[in-house]
Amino acid sequence: MCGIVGYVGGQSALGVVLEGLRRLEYRGYDSAGVAVLASSRLLLAKKAGKLSNLEKLLAEASEAELRTGTTGIGHTRWATHGGPTDRNAHPHLSADGRIAVIHNGIIENFAKLRAELQASGVEFASDTDTECVAHLLAAELAGVAGSPQALADAMRRVCNRLEGAFTLLAVDAQAPGAVVGARRNSPLVVGRGNGENFLASDVSAFIEHTREAVELGQDQIVLITAEAIEITDFAGNPAQGRDYHVDWDARAAEKDGHAWFMLKEIAEQPQAVADTLRGRIGEHGEIMLDEVRLTDQDLRDVDKVFIVSCGTSYHAGLVAKYAIEHWTRIPCEVELASEFRYRDPVLDRSTLVVVISQSGETMDTLMALRHAKEQKARVLAICNTNGSTIPRESDAVLYTHGGPEIAVASTKAFLTQLAACFLVGLHLAQVRGVKYADEVGAVLAQLQEMPAKIEKVLAAMDPVRELGRQLAETNASTVLFIGRHVGYPVALEGALKLKELAYLHAEGFAAGELKHGPIALIAGPAGDGRAFDRGTPVVCIVPSPAGRGVLHDKIVSNIQEVRARGAHTIVIAEEGDDAVVPYADMLVRVPRTPTLLAPFVTTVPLQVLAAAIADASGHDVDQPRNLAKSVTVE
Ligand code: F6R
Repeated sequence: MCGIVGYVGGQSALGVVLEGLRRLEYRGYDSAGVAVLASSRLLLAKKAGKLSNLEKLLAEASEAELRTGTTGIGHTRWATHGGPTDRNAHPHLSADGRIAVIHNGIIENFAKLRAELQASGVEFASDTDTECVAHLLAAELAGVAGSPQALADAMRRVCNRLEGAFTLLAVDAQAPGAVVGARRNSPLVVGRGNGENFLASDVSAFIEHTREAVELGQDQIVLITAEAIEITDFAGNPAQGRDYHVDWDARAAEKDGHAWFMLKEIAEQPQAVADTLRGRIGEHGEIMLDEVRLTDQDLRDVDKVFIVSCGTSYHAGLVAKYAIEHWTRIPCEVELASEFRYRDPVLDRSTLVVVISQSGETMDTLMALRHAKEQKARVLAICNTNGSTIPRESDAVLYTHGGPEIAVASTKAFLTQLAACFLVGLHLAQVRGVKYADEVGAVLAQLQEMPAKIEKVLAAMDPVRELGRQLAETNASTVLFIGRHVGYPVALEGALKLKELAYLHAEGFAAGELKHGPIALIAGPAGDGRAFDRGTPVVCIVPSPAGRGVLHDKIVSNIQEVRARGAHTIVIAEEGDDAVVPYADMLVRVPRTPTLLAPFVTTVPLQVLAAAIADASGHDVDQPRNLAKSVTVE
């Protein structure tokens, strides 16, 4: 939430910062702003709405120095304190205009700080918590000659007064050639360039310029100039960041011919799943998770697994539960991270807590992981983002190799999380000796077939896109999704995609629960002559008839029940499943897949459907309203 960029070097700071903001806009798009330091002038531009509004404003700006200045900061906002207006857009200035500040996070003691500043005569120009920091920095620097070091010292003193979560960047008109950053519970990475350095919420902002990054620790201050990167802790002691190389390039963060990032990311799923499996399966069909810093003995000691995550990552956890319990016979509970620590879960040294997060920065998940560690549980992170906070604070990490996910709605993260969860489940079964090597090998072989199967689903999506257009045209008011077993979390995921992208009421149900209430939602055709006049659309996720026959037969009955009440059934079933044909108003075929692995193929049509409805409804598919990626507030 909120994208932040800072630059010092030889290029136009405005150009570098705007390009970075373009890549970070998925983190928030309520407003955008930049501050550029030129000689000793601080030039500012900010505008409510998407980045394009700021770009329009800048195109009309007359100051040449705005383009020639080589030190700058920029921000794209997801509003917390104060509405999404011009005056609340970042950067915020100190009253004397000397300091400009941008911020991601929430300063929890801002009301007290604001009252204190107002009592000393400071007038506020915005409703934000951030503005306090600009005034506090100015107070610290009053009467002090400007220098990079003085700005870093002032930032340290101010940070020690702040409570909550924050990434802050500041520039001082009297200290050209320097940007100071600070982080607590909120992301900030450094890009190490040649004669230039960068600060950003994530590496995609500077990937075009450098792939060498430095991960900062908790409660650290970083000072960048064109030539140097200096890191200290909040007490002023020198500190070290962790250097790493980013293993993807700028092209991975481009749309590459697709109309939307989401469509590109859907198309990338076969590769993303293959990349997540690659290098983790040995010659003899055994799992190799050497990078996971948990010993075999640690895993043998586990007597309970909790999976904790949010949104789509939570749905991945729900699928994983079926596999982990089936393969390992260890009880596995799945929890929403935002609820986990508040209900005092029973955790101890033999509990394995698996936290799943694409971004690695989700605050709810981070707080849950800290709670788990306090209770002495072992924490394993499944994460897509190198250098992020969640893997850094976990005991162990398994990275998904999905590449950058830029669309706000998660797609390839989900499938790669499934792959990673299945590897963890099989690894647990392998080290605990509850599955023979050939059994583990057989499932791994099936997993390795998933990329080709996903590819096959993708190649047959035209009818689903057409259905999406019809649903958009007719303003369908609700869409229901039903599934059983692993098809149930897939139903939840399909409904989530539709809500967030198409702004359409959608709900996922365990098919067996329908008769306990939700079936009352089903209505037959209204007969009012609208184009999609076919009754409530119900998407039915059907398990393989080759798996547990009972499961399959039960859902076929559920489909008949909803159809008998006038629903329009959109049935997702595997090739050769003829039992569903009489009850399917629309049939979407997916390749034959073992029951536990079916979500790899059944989720894809639901992603395509949601994107198609959103696109046909004229919505921004990548940046749905009210949302932002990487939710760094609780
Ligand atoms: C939905 C979506 C969100 C995220 C959730 C967790 O499409 O993207 O529900 O899945 O905010 O995010 P991560 O995985 O980054 O922790």
